[in-house]
Amino acid sequence: MAKQSYNPSNIAVIGMEWGDEGKGKIIDFLAEKADVVARFNGGNNAGHTIEVGNNKLVVHLVPSGVMYKNKLKIIGNGLVVDPKVLLGEMKNLDKNKIKITPDNLAVSENAHVILPKHIEEDKKAGGTIGTTARGIGPAYTDKAARIGLKMYELIDDTLFKKRFGDEESYQEYKEYARALKPYITDTSALMNNALDKNYRILFEGAQGTLLDVDFGTYPFVTSSNATAGGICTGLGISPKKVQSVLGVCKAYKTRVGMGPFPTEIMGNTAEKLQKVGKEFGATTGRQRRVGWFDALIGKYAVMVNGIDSIALTKLDVLTAVDKLKICVAYKYKGNIINNFTTNMKILQNCQPVYEEFDGWWDDLTKVRTYDKLPNNAKKYLRRIEELLKVPISIVSVGPRREQTIVTRSEFLF
Ligand code: GDP
Ligand code: IMO
Ligand code: MG
Repeated sequence: MAKQSYNPSNIAVIGMEWGDEGKGKIIDFLAEKADVVARFNGGNNAGHTIEVGNNKLVVHLVPSGVMYKNKLKIIGNGLVVDPKVLLGEMKNLDKNKIKITPDNLAVSENAHVILPKHIEEDKKAGGTIGTTARGIGPAYTDKAARIGLKMYELIDDTLFKKRFGDEESYQEYKEYARALKPYITDTSALMNNALDKNYRILFEGAQGTLLDVDFGTYPFVTSSNATAGGICTGLGISPKKVQSVLGVCKAYKTRVGMGPFPTEIMGNTAEKLQKVGKEFGATTGRQRRVGWFDALIGKYAVMVNGIDSIALTKLDVLTAVDKLKICVAYKYKGNIINNFTTNMKILQNCQPVYEEFDGWWDDLTKVRTYDKLPNNAKKYLRRIEELLKVPISIVSVGPRREQTIVTRSEFLF
């Protein structure tokens, strides 16, 4: 990717772990200065939370720039779209006085459609890895098998009848098609036009690096490319156009669903983090597993995505933990491993090697400048920067938009 990390005109926002890092919050924060917010992967398996004042909103398909009416939101070709869910989400936004119109939302004609059979199949088969049961995997399977249905086919009466006419839900989906038609367009052309005009663009990732189908903890992953590589294929733009990558990273780690998690913890501290951090999935309500910060994952995400700077979220949740730990290596069969691996055999059987840090007791949720952070919190942040070899540009100390400390503005708009 083109190297231009200083005051870039476009920023990719990428999850560095297993999703739910706080991408929605960070995108909402950055969206004020953006013109376009474009999602490039996933579907309504995502749940991105935005809190402004007393207003809390979770979006699953509509990009997280939604609080700003005049920004163009794009749902790229890399997504799988459940038309019913998208329309429901638009209705819900409308209730919240957020008007979605074809002027502020565009859906790719090449995005694939999630059909009832995909959801059925996911409910049956997804249990083995704990999917969100939204039909995501089966819809991407059909895409790869070249039997999927694209949005442009859904809205074309003749094509749709030919492909779907015999199905029980034909009439229902015809109605969805009618409602969605004005939004469906060539989003690759829109994106390239926005890039040519030097508009400020946020590329919104869903899920995270370790849920990426190629670079994640396969098979406990989702079925799309959640890493920065997915931006180009998911939106139809050249890799030369992506100017900067912001990794969103939780101050501790969480995971929903099954799969290896070397720094996972149980017991009192785990329960505290789950409670204070409200670690329940924004899509399925499942409790998120929690664990210590894992520098191997951090370094891996920096490498795979080319991360220029980090937005570190949920630092406030670590208040009043006596001793904090950061994993700096894995031990496997007596050997030290310094770099993350997607080899399941190693991941499932390794032991984390930790560095320990003194905690802090101050409430961080009202802190607005780096200087006002407790010394022990600063030490923790500095060690993360040192280990990951990437600067932290944003520290998030609460779910609300204003609970955000910008530490290195040169990496942002
Ligand atoms: P996403 O999928 O990456 O957008 O993240 P989710 O919205 O699924 O989960 C992140 C959760 O943490 C949401 O409930 C956010 O409101 C919340 N959150 C985000 N940043 C912070 C933070 O800095 N502190 C606290 N306490 N909560 C945060
Ligand atoms: P956001 O964008 C956290 C997880 C599921 C399951 C695995 C596969 O909010 O960060 P899928 O339904 O995609 O086939 O499930 O991936 N998963 C997520 N976990 N945040 C997400 O999205 C997720 N999307 C999928 O729990 O383990
Ligand atoms: Mg989420």
